[in-house]
Amino acid sequence: MCGIVGAVAERNITPILLEGLKRLEYRGYDSAGVALYTNDDKLERMRRPGKVSELELALTEEPLLGRLGIAHTRWATHGAPCERNAHPHFSGDLAVVHNGIIENHEALRDQLKALGYVFTSDTDTEVIAHLLNHKLKDLADLTVALKATVKELHGAYGLAVISADQPDRLVAARSGSPLVIGLGMGENFLASDQLALRQVTDRFMYLEEGDIAEIRRESVQIWDVNGQSVERESVQYRDGAEAADKGEFRHFMLKEIHEQPAVVQRTLEGRLSQNQVLVQAFGPQAAELFAKVRNVQIVACGTSYHAGMVARYWLEELAGIPCQVEVASEFRYRKVVVQPDTLFVTISQSGETADTLAALRNAKELGFLASLAICNVGISSLVRESDLTLLTQAGREIGVASTKAFTTQLVGLLLLTLSLGQVRGTLAEGVEATLVEELRRLPARLGEALAMDSTVEKIAELFAEKNHTLFLGRGAQFPVAMEGALKLKEISYIHAEAYPAGELKHGPLALVDNDMPVVTVAPNNELLEKLKSNLQEVRARGGELIVFADEKAGMTNGEGTHVVHMPHIHDILSPILYTIPLQLLSYYVAVLKGTDVDQPRNLAKSVTVE
Ligand code: G6P
Repeated sequence: MCGIVGAVAERNITPILLEGLKRLEYRGYDSAGVALYTNDDKLERMRRPGKVSELELALTEEPLLGRLGIAHTRWATHGAPCERNAHPHFSGDLAVVHNGIIENHEALRDQLKALGYVFTSDTDTEVIAHLLNHKLKDLADLTVALKATVKELHGAYGLAVISADQPDRLVAARSGSPLVIGLGMGENFLASDQLALRQVTDRFMYLEEGDIAEIRRESVQIWDVNGQSVERESVQYRDGAEAADKGEFRHFMLKEIHEQPAVVQRTLEGRLSQNQVLVQAFGPQAAELFAKVRNVQIVACGTSYHAGMVARYWLEELAGIPCQVEVASEFRYRKVVVQPDTLFVTISQSGETADTLAALRNAKELGFLASLAICNVGISSLVRESDLTLLTQAGREIGVASTKAFTTQLVGLLLLTLSLGQVRGTLAEGVEATLVEELRRLPARLGEALAMDSTVEKIAELFAEKNHTLFLGRGAQFPVAMEGALKLKEISYIHAEAYPAGELKHGPLALVDNDMPVVTVAPNNELLEKLKSNLQEVRARGGELIVFADEKAGMTNGEGTHVVHMPHIHDILSPILYTIPLQLLSYYVAVLKGTDVDQPRNLAKSVTVE
């Protein structure tokens, strides 16, 4: 994972690199560092464990100024998150920052040690610095030496390098880890995400797999995987709505939770007619392709995987289409048997998750009918590499724990279900018109659920001293329970597990006592009575129940039972609505526990390594 920023300019670039790093902290925040070719012609660096603010503080106390530099924010893979392992890594006169993992680092390390190189870190990255240094001895030119170096690297990398010997340029290489060049006037930049450079430019050039780039103040030169000099298109990015501002909210996560009515509305905009979903929202060839779909395979990670799990219930129940859902890290390494006419669907907030991208690339070799990405970032690799796309309109999500991305994904997946059913004629009569109507009302319903904020805040107090929790759901609420458990563990560090309520007595009931709160989502559907019996089983063992129940479900508060009444909603849409109180619950528990809500320990927003 990790984030990279680089610049070559005529002005001091330290503030540009720092601002870029802050914008990239979603990719990791274990340590941060910067290397500059300083105004007195020396290569110098500053590295600090912890967040970018620590590095910033250090640079305030001991400023470093320069016009050529690279910087990095790290999510530790090889070696603990300490200063010694923080990037940039040096070898002689050169400095390297790296995203990704070098799989043959051990073999390279042994070879380089035999050549006399001394390693000062436990990282895989340091081998790149020394290997490049070694190549430079024969090849002299930094760009030429980088081309020779990457030939010996196995694994994934986005690399940026500067050298005090050749301070006219920044060189970069991409393979498996994205890099983008930001184009300025008499200055140029590099980053692992254009977001890092929005402060300095709106013109970008995306490197493709295998590209090597030489970036100077006045020019950019790129070579492709075959070593051929190539031109990459430059694109202007005009969306100004990127501002990262918490507004009146204490944390980005809370702000993002409260944005859900608006972003769900935006995700629906232009995609519904009076009583139908507009299939062309998925792309011009969507109707023709959807008509052929006989199966759906969904692949995703984390929260996005849970969205896929909900969609399976919808696709089978509403559109009558068999659906399989799998986490990308398993799918990509499994021998998959593909049924004829299967649509391959990826779901991703970022569109850069390494396992999801790799699964898509594998899927292309496996004979799927077509690929569709449901994604929140229009310029992401996933979108660029998929046949069809539906962009969720969640806007930028900053909190590491995903909230608004999830509910907008669910909306996108319901649009997909209805589109497939519509084109294939498999929807029951009147269903599409009813659900279109319900979707239109959804933002208002979400607003009502958010109004329960202070009720949920009180409930959160029950969890502050607990170490374990169970989340139960049935049917399409089971993945909602999984998502609720994931949220709680991500930001409050309380161990939380989700179970389909019917499985309770096959194991987890053994854990239930009065120290184990059990959270349940209970809409008013045909599974309600069965769920109620499961809850009795919990109460009988002294377990405390927290139930988010439909106001018509006939559930009331009692000893050890806390019922929060939810606005009534069509059962199909209930997974979207019932997600809201679970997000609020984990948020308020985390606040009570005093954790770092927006940047929980050990996690990152975008996981670009496998
Ligand atoms: C990380 C994030 C999660 C996210 C998952 C998948 O683990 O912390 O919030 O759900 O990656 O990310 P994606 O961008 O593919 O949805």
